[in-house]
Amino acid sequence: MFLEDCKVLENKQVFGTYYLMKLKGEKSINVAKAGQFYMLQCKGQGTILRRPISLHYINKSENILEFYYEVKGLGTKEFANLKEGDTLNIQGPLGNGFTTDIENKTIVVVGGGMGIAPTKLLIERLKENGNKVIYICGGRNKGALEIIKNINLEGIETYITTDDGSLGIKGNVTMPLRTLLEKGGIDGVYTCGPHKMLEFVGKTAQEFGVYCEVSLEERMACGVKACVGCSILTNEGMKKVCHDGPVFDSRIIIDINPKNPEPCGCK
Ligand code: FES
Repeated sequence: MFLEDCKVLENKQVFGTYYLMKLKGEKSINVAKAGQFYMLQCKGQGTILRRPISLHYINKSENILEFYYEVKGLGTKEFANLKEGDTLNIQGPLGNGFTTDIENKTIVVVGGGMGIAPTKLLIERLKENGNKVIYICGGRNKGALEIIKNINLEGIETYITTDDGSLGIKGNVTMPLRTLLEKGGIDGVYTCGPHKMLEFVGKTAQEFGVYCEVSLEERMACGVKACVGCSILTNEGMKKVCHDGPVFDSRIIIDINPKNPEPCGCK
């Protein structure tokens, strides 16, 4: 875990309250994993706590860190006001990431809403190791999926869903996921998104006996295991999302109702 001051290279609105920020990083570039997050510093009044933001992408050759975030409160509003050339202190990478040190597997990556954030790096890491990736992404509407233009989906079998049908299939991500699982040949499902969606994805994967990793989006205060702000009850007792997660084997998440499928060899 590193603390570093980074220059803002770009910070733009993607759609509505969704923003993409690119920072010139240095120290953590070579160790960060898909699914990890950073605590970004706020300096404004009433925003003393850092904000946890999921890592969107790392461009190793140019030392660039990308963060896709949603403006929800004072802290993230402050981020949205940062301009090119400003400095932002970041702390990370934190937490664990998805299991990407696997080879020749077929993995379905499912991202919903802001949960699309870690999927850019995740897809790249899985592909680098010779895995076949199938991508499912969903959002409320076309605008909420604008970010996928920033993801390299060349050669990736992709399914897009929107709640209102303005892009792709009208419905939710579990529809194409179920079809793929019924066809067979899937070794694992990796997902990030709203809790309800994770529940559905986890349960669907488990119904087919397929290993599934879920990345939880939880409120955090310290981000470094020093408080209890992110504690959750699991089948293995209390866990801290910032330290034990945010990525978990779906079988230990209590409300995902585990049926204990065999791991695909991902663990
Ligand atoms: Fe403080 Fe996780 S946010 S322990």
